[in-house]
Amino acid sequence: MLMSKEVDAIRNIVTEHTQWRGACLNLIASENVVSMAVKEMLISDLGNRYAIGFLHNRFYSGTKYIDELEGITTDLARRVFDAEHVNYVPISGTMANLVLFNSMTAPGDVVTALSVIDGGHASFRECSKIHGVSLVPLPFSMEEMNIDVGEAEKVIARIKPRIVLLGASEILFPHPIKEIRRIADETGAIVAYDSAHVLGLIAGKTFQDPLREGAEIVTGSTHKTFFGPQGGIILCKGRYAKEIDNAAWQLVNNHHVHRVAGLSVALAEFLAFGREYAAQVVSNARRLAEELFNMGIPVLGEKNGFTRSHQVIFRARNNNGDATAKRLEEANIITTKTPLPTDKTEEECSGVRLGTQEVTRLGMKEDDMVEIAKLIKRVAADRENPSSVREDVRKLISQFMTVKYSFGEGDEAYKYISI
Ligand SMILES: Cc1ncc(COP(=O)(O)O)c(C=O)c1O
Repeated sequence: MLMSKEVDAIRNIVTEHTQWRGACLNLIASENVVSMAVKEMLISDLGNRYAIGFLHNRFYSGTKYIDELEGITTDLARRVFDAEHVNYVPISGTMANLVLFNSMTAPGDVVTALSVIDGGHASFRECSKIHGVSLVPLPFSMEEMNIDVGEAEKVIARIKPRIVLLGASEILFPHPIKEIRRIADETGAIVAYDSAHVLGLIAGKTFQDPLREGAEIVTGSTHKTFFGPQGGIILCKGRYAKEIDNAAWQLVNNHHVHRVAGLSVALAEFLAFGREYAAQVVSNARRLAEELFNMGIPVLGEKNGFTRSHQVIFRARNNNGDATAKRLEEANIITTKTPLPTDKTEEECSGVRLGTQEVTRLGMKEDDMVEIAKLIKRVAADRENPSSVREDVRKLISQFMTVKYSFGEGDEAYKYISI
């Protein structure tokens, strides 16, 4: 067999990466692990194919099985989200936001959404730039760790936005969709909700239910709390279906059909296991936050019980989230530095954000959160040498190596699959 130095080197890197992350406590709030059935879809022939256009109305031939697959995907997604219309053409949450801005705004319009410092996502700003839209920050209350409805009412009345975009990257508590809907109705704004982080909680019928609470269009990522392949999705009222579908296929063009097959499998997994999983994710986050707080770590959101999502956010030692996240990584505890509302610039990152969704998918429960809190405290507060904590991290995670809440119980979560 012909050998290539480069291919061997690439294999080694990816194998080492997989082994390393399998020995880590993966607490990034925007990642997850997929089941073996989802992985199988991702390496199928579908990854080599195009299916440009609409269901049963494609530009290329060769799509009869893809149409069959997408019929099932649409049906599953409508059932999981109870949505009038679903579009899974965007290949990421950012792309889903781009489709929202492109289809619903015109140059010169105004959109209001949270700024990055208050938890908003950079895509809000970048999507507005592309389309010549002005973006006005939605007021935020640090005490509540939520949108300030009173102040938002004044802003919305003044700027008369085309869209009020709710949802965020740092999202501890349900956003006040009903209240904002009432305010937006006064000026005729569309209420949209970016569910990138919390899509899996919504699918699991916890946290909040944007479409029923007053959002008309919901964008999201399919790989954070929702444990599908990396991708994007839009859920909306039927009256927006045509504009969303047209913008999505024009902007995305090739929507990566292997990802759609993986998404179908994950949707079926959510129908069967979603409620149990989502409830455990939130319960774990709450327990982790309480333990950290009781150990003296300044966890945000105390007034409202720290969290109702998968996220826990704490102020880092010396307000240096970057240094804390780096020390934690040396101990194989993988987290994200994050800006806090008190930071002057988004680069300051005084905080650290944790997410419980991946460890929950591996089967961890509340008692395991107590162990995680102790490990974090040893590195982030007690200043213990991270390398001495690493072995204890490995011992804890080694008990949780398979994917739960799936049809293939026993699937290894961090297996490098060589073919
Ligand atoms: C609120 C929000 N919207 C959009 C995105 C972008 O999602 P993706 O990474 O799938 O492009 C993120 C990513 O973290 C996010 O937090």
